[in-house]
Amino acid sequence: MKALRWAAGLAVVVLGAGLASAQSLAQTPPMGWSTWNHFHHDISDALIRAQADAMVASGMRDLGYVYINIDGGWEGYRDGQGVLHPNGNFPDMKALGDYIHSKGLKFGIYTGPGPKTCAGAPASYGFEAQDAKMFASWGVDFVKYDLCSFRENMKKEAGDDVQKSDAMMKAAYAKMHEDLAATGRPILFSLCQYGWGEVWSWGPEVGASMWRTSGDINDTYDRMALNGFGEAGLSKYAGPGHWNDPDFLEAGNPGMSADEQRTHFSLWAMLAAPLIAGNDLTAMTAETKSILLNREVIAVDQDPLGRQGDRVWKEGPLEIWTKPLEGNAMAVALFNRTTGATRMTLRLKDVGWKGKAAARDLWVHEDKGTLSEETSLTVPGHGVVMLKLTRSNR
Ligand code: GAL
Repeated sequence: MKALRWAAGLAVVVLGAGLASAQSLAQTPPMGWSTWNHFHHDISDALIRAQADAMVASGMRDLGYVYINIDGGWEGYRDGQGVLHPNGNFPDMKALGDYIHSKGLKFGIYTGPGPKTCAGAPASYGFEAQDAKMFASWGVDFVKYDLCSFRENMKKEAGDDVQKSDAMMKAAYAKMHEDLAATGRPILFSLCQYGWGEVWSWGPEVGASMWRTSGDINDTYDRMALNGFGEAGLSKYAGPGHWNDPDFLEAGNPGMSADEQRTHFSLWAMLAAPLIAGNDLTAMTAETKSILLNREVIAVDQDPLGRQGDRVWKEGPLEIWTKPLEGNAMAVALFNRTTGATRMTLRLKDVGWKGKAAARDLWVHEDKGTLSEETSLTVPGHGVVMLKLTRSNR
């Protein structure tokens, strides 16, 4: 009995250590790039190398974008020994990982707990430990684990029993976490199951550093807004090591206006969301760069306090969000969700600010001096004004 209790205690300690090391990989929200939003399945070794080169040449790496993540579309077939082979576009994953690492970047890959990915390629069901070991041998640093066909397993075994089906889902994520931890390589674990079963309340328990809170983003204002503003109320679940993920960025893709893209980037920063770019890094306009490389907005996202922001004021389609920052500072974003430019009033009492505030505009890159109790600002249609407030003695 005593020995049993000792063994159970040890298991908890070991699992606890695994969790601590997994989550210490993301003290601030992870930053990087993923194939999915722009290239979908049209990906290859050469494309990944070119994106890695552009990540460095553009200056993005030096601002913290380090993960180069291959999403669905790399898989080939699983052989009789259970080995999952990449398709012909990826001749040598270890060499690709080495190339990514040689640029000072990190290597991410995609699979899922079901027998198949959403695109019908082989995923890790029944081969979790084997796949985890292979990823570690390739030098993988990040695994996105997408529920996809595991939903069918849940349906088959649990039917309409939500509790049972949620328990199956958690167990499937916990299993891969344990298998990744057992490789001994620090691998960031990113959950993708569209926010099912309030994943934010149990993601950390299964070793997740980040978890998707919603369905797929696409390159439209409406879908971006649904995912981003839809995180209102979830701030308490995020913190150093574990983050709510409203999905990859669409900035730099053609579907949104510049104001919409600035809204998108500001909102993700207010949400302390992972900043995983989803555009073609080899073909960025000056405007795209001014968004993705806006170091003042990135600093809000990456603030060491690690607090997610939330909505503090709303009147119809006009919203004000705040995010606490280190040094008693605060980011404030005024969002106009109508299509026309609108005057909005920032009242210090509405954002919970006591005393005097000095403001800096994080898109215009300009100090605005000490604010009065009420400031009226013009916010463009589908646009944002984003400020950083600090204590002012004047
Ligand atoms: C979806 C997932 C997307 C992308 C896609 C690949 O299930 O939410 O982010 O990974 O699969 O097929």
